[in-house]
Amino acid sequence: MNDNHIEILCEPADLRVRLAQWRAQGQRLVLVPTMGALHAGHMSLVKEAKRLGDRVLVSVFVNPTQFAPNEDFGVYPRRLETDAELATQAGADLIFAPTPQAMYPQGFATTISLTGPATVGLEDKFRPTHFAGVATVVAKLFNLVRPDVAIFGQKDYQQLQVIRQMTSDLDMDIGIVGAPTIREKDGLALSSRNLYLTVAERDCAPRLYAALLQCAREIGMGTASIGAALEATTKNLKEMGFVVDYLEARHAETLEPVASPEEGPIRLLVAAKLGTTRLIDNIAV
Ligand code: PAF
Repeated sequence: MNDNHIEILCEPADLRVRLAQWRAQGQRLVLVPTMGALHAGHMSLVKEAKRLGDRVLVSVFVNPTQFAPNEDFGVYPRRLETDAELATQAGADLIFAPTPQAMYPQGFATTISLTGPATVGLEDKFRPTHFAGVATVVAKLFNLVRPDVAIFGQKDYQQLQVIRQMTSDLDMDIGIVGAPTIREKDGLALSSRNLYLTVAERDCAPRLYAALLQCAREIGMGTASIGAALEATTKNLKEMGFVVDYLEARHAETLEPVASPEEGPIRLLVAAKLGTTRLIDNIAV
């Protein structure tokens, strides 16, 4: 325990002891995996977790294997004390904050290999090693915690589908819940990386969500074909100063391309840079 009254465990062995006690009491465990820098989006995941189980465990681990060498692993915000306060406020029971050595000891040699939703040409096209790192660390967390349920934000929509697929394919007996994206009042999806935005970029950033909404409206109402709506929205975003990695309409479950609304349910997914900050977002059509 610390001043925040939430228990923080860093060693897998200590975690197993605590979880065995809870399991012996018949308590239902819910895991909220995070990389820390908690914000209102994470708080909403913890609150949902409390609804779904008896004990809520938040993992805080900036996972090195899901970052490419040119990415922001070194500067990713790390602030365990604040995270502990926020997790406590949201009602979590325990934080698991392992060290990189505990998760990836010398000689670690296993990586989960993925196809399906992990190789559909969205995030994977721009971050080719990302999902193998995510899946491997999530599989480790699942094995360490053996939760009844795990909750992930829909903001990382492709990640959510990758984890659903892995959990099903590997017969992991864990319920996967996707929780709605939490947004600022102006529509910007909450993300720990929003901290990187300059004041001018922060002013511009909500226009990404506004553009997604407009595009979804056009596709949904049939006022434009999917191709035309995507093309016009991409052009608009570029004019606003976004560097668009992708804007795609995909099948909401398989993430395969769709040519018409009849092939739906459709999810619109976007990734775009403002300066050096890469934003991702998605909505249902
Ligand atoms: O979404 C995240 O924060 C991370 O990708 C996750 C799922 C915690 C794995 O490191």
